[in-house]
Amino acid sequence: MRIHLNPNPNPATEADRNAKIAEGGFGKYYTDNMLIAQWSEGKGWSDAELKAYGPLSLDPATSVLHYGQEIFEGLKAYGQPDGGISLFRPDANGERFAKSAARMALPELPVEDFVKTVTELVKSESKWVPKNVGESLYIRPFMIATEVGLGVRPSNHATYLVITTPASAYFNPNKAVTVWISTEFVRAAQGGTGAAKTGGNYAGSLLAQKQAAAEGCDQVVWLDATERKWVEEMGGMNLYFIKGSGKDATVFTPKLTGTLLAGVTRDSILRVAKDLGYKVEEGMLSVEQWRDGVASGEITEIFACGTAAVVSPIGAAKSAQGTWKTGDGEPGPITGQIRNHLLGIQHGTIEDKHGWNVKVI
Ligand code: COI
Repeated sequence: MRIHLNPNPNPATEADRNAKIAEGGFGKYYTDNMLIAQWSEGKGWSDAELKAYGPLSLDPATSVLHYGQEIFEGLKAYGQPDGGISLFRPDANGERFAKSAARMALPELPVEDFVKTVTELVKSESKWVPKNVGESLYIRPFMIATEVGLGVRPSNHATYLVITTPASAYFNPNKAVTVWISTEFVRAAQGGTGAAKTGGNYAGSLLAQKQAAAEGCDQVVWLDATERKWVEEMGGMNLYFIKGSGKDATVFTPKLTGTLLAGVTRDSILRVAKDLGYKVEEGMLSVEQWRDGVASGEITEIFACGTAAVVSPIGAAKSAQGTWKTGDGEPGPITGQIRNHLLGIQHGTIEDKHGWNVKVI
């Protein structure tokens, strides 16, 4: 894919940019430029264009607006000690983007083009990359069905875009969140779209999220759709349970059954935990095992993970059966160690022995 550079002639001033970066948060301000490419049946992918960030003009009958045929990704660029910038595992996001496209009957963008377009945009927006640990430039590639028409069919036209936003912590990492275990709503069923990163999964989660808030919780935890028994995910993030403590601890995560999203952070933590000397395990955990595990002290720490929030400790879980605290309810030591190790690799202060960082500049 060739990229035509047609950058914003009026980028933010240095003062404006620095004020926006300093404000932190997630997804509040967008950088000067975005990237866009078109696909149509028969012709395939067009060249991409890097141009000023701005609104899209869409016919009201554009199919994504009606039937939600869309996919997205989230990845980050991190400042490095030498003043450079690296992307974290962009190929892994590119591979998942292709799988999501296949599931949602959208055209597959070759991983090489995904990485190239993301790299080119980050290079042009490099001044927007925050410098502090835990801060980054969040990159949001996405693809929407842009055939105009109300017929329900795979779109014969698609638009691929990449936008970027300076990001600090999505959740406060020093505060444990509380979760509501939903037995009323489910996120995904076998054969559905749970393993794809597609907007509908997130739209469908919002009512359960509202219910969680009404129960005084920060986030919702999803169970499997069939038995409503097996723990799957939290909100839009994967889950981890620490069994035992110290060097003998086991770092456990629900296995990918086809309904869970295969998180890049989830996968990275499996490897980081092993590097740190812990046993790692992917398996099934029931709600009863969660309840009994925290009561007996076998489960000592719980956290959620994702690109946006990295690692977020879970202090307590509430369900129709009651409330169960994790340990003393405060963020645990292994959770903190894994978070710091992963952030250290991403920021280039801990050796990147898996070769995950891809240098942009
Ligand atoms: C992530 O954890 O990176 C997510 O996917 C959440 C995002 C949709 C804000």
